[in-house]
Amino acid sequence: RNLRRLIPCRHDIHRLKAPFLAIYETLIPPEEENAKQKQLLTLLEKLVSKEWPEARLHLYGSCANSFRVSKSDIDVCLAIEDPDVNKSEVLLKLADILQSDNLQNVQVNDLAFQDLCNVLTAVHALTRARVPIVKLMDPVTAISCDICINNVLAVVNTKLLWDYAQIDVRLRQLALIVKHWAKSRGVNATYQGTLSSYAYVLMCIHFLQQRRPAILPCLQGMERTYAVTVDNIECAYFDQVEKLSGFGSRNRESIAQLVWTFFNYWAYCHDYANDVISIRTGSILSKRAKDWTRRIGNDRHLICIEDPFEISHDLGRVVDKNSIRVLREEFERAAQIMQFDHDPCVTLFEPYIL
Ligand code: CTP
Ligand code: MG
Repeated sequence: RNLRRLIPCRHDIHRLKAPFLAIYETLIPPEEENAKQKQLLTLLEKLVSKEWPEARLHLYGSCANSFRVSKSDIDVCLAIEDPDVNKSEVLLKLADILQSDNLQNVQVNDLAFQDLCNVLTAVHALTRARVPIVKLMDPVTAISCDICINNVLAVVNTKLLWDYAQIDVRLRQLALIVKHWAKSRGVNATYQGTLSSYAYVLMCIHFLQQRRPAILPCLQGMERTYAVTVDNIECAYFDQVEKLSGFGSRNRESIAQLVWTFFNYWAYCHDYANDVISIRTGSILSKRAKDWTRRIGNDRHLICIEDPFEISHDLGRVVDKNSIRVLREEFERAAQIMQFDHDPCVTLFEPYIL
């Protein structure tokens, strides 16, 4: 049971704080990308309200949870309050509305959108995917905008992540660095059995909840100041996060120490056989208690990350016996680099080439 390997951190870790902060700064998307994103949303709202006046558009994912890196896709949810809504029909209709011809018409008198018009050329309705979407693609930057229908739970978990990010800036620093590492190393692709960005952010939140002194609280374990029920799931937590600024200030660990400890944890300390990480409880749960010990269908539970609201959902369920090896090798590589490499800020993010 005792996998915890106590390795003392390299003595010159403090030297790495400035270069890691510099990397973090470069990962924050430039302001013009945000402006473009807002324009796109305004345009979509205009088009959508003609067809579905009651519908609302919500940004979710990294555009709205503060964990966006430059060139991230844009996730949009079209919320239609009709219990009998046929999602495929809506998506096909939406794809039709978004065809460039229609866009041209809308933009005739609207110079602000001229730019955008060239952008939205490819529209596909992917109605058979697990989460059916319409995908808009910018052929120049390859940034895509995925529109789904009524994925309200995703909008709510986006708010939870955003709220956590307001409490201590080290969450955003760590999560952007971990996402950048995962994208560089090719371990951020659920279709290949590795983890989603969302899963990595949950890992970062959990990790900062576990530091001593804690850097993040467990918002779902506190007084409920925000509560909604979505798909019969009660989502409630303390969202007055402005009252929590300074929560982590007794912990003085720098981003460099946190990156070191994060990879050390996932390389050598996490008990993959028994443990489930849970930001909902701010603790580690056992696989046995969740009944995640057996393989059911394709769910093998080889790395267990509990969704904060959909608690039967293991974000690690996409991981298979091959990709778990890849993931753990990458965690170990990262931990070794953080411990021994002369220039970890470069080596850590070296692209993985097949
Ligand atoms: N999501 C979810 N359940 C999952 C995966 C994703 O609810 N199993 C929702 C979350 O709200 C998440 C959003 O979908 O924020 C987008 O997921 P993802 O693309 O993984 O995260 P992003 O933060 O958008 O990261 P990226 O910048 O890589 O696009
Ligand atoms: Mg996204």
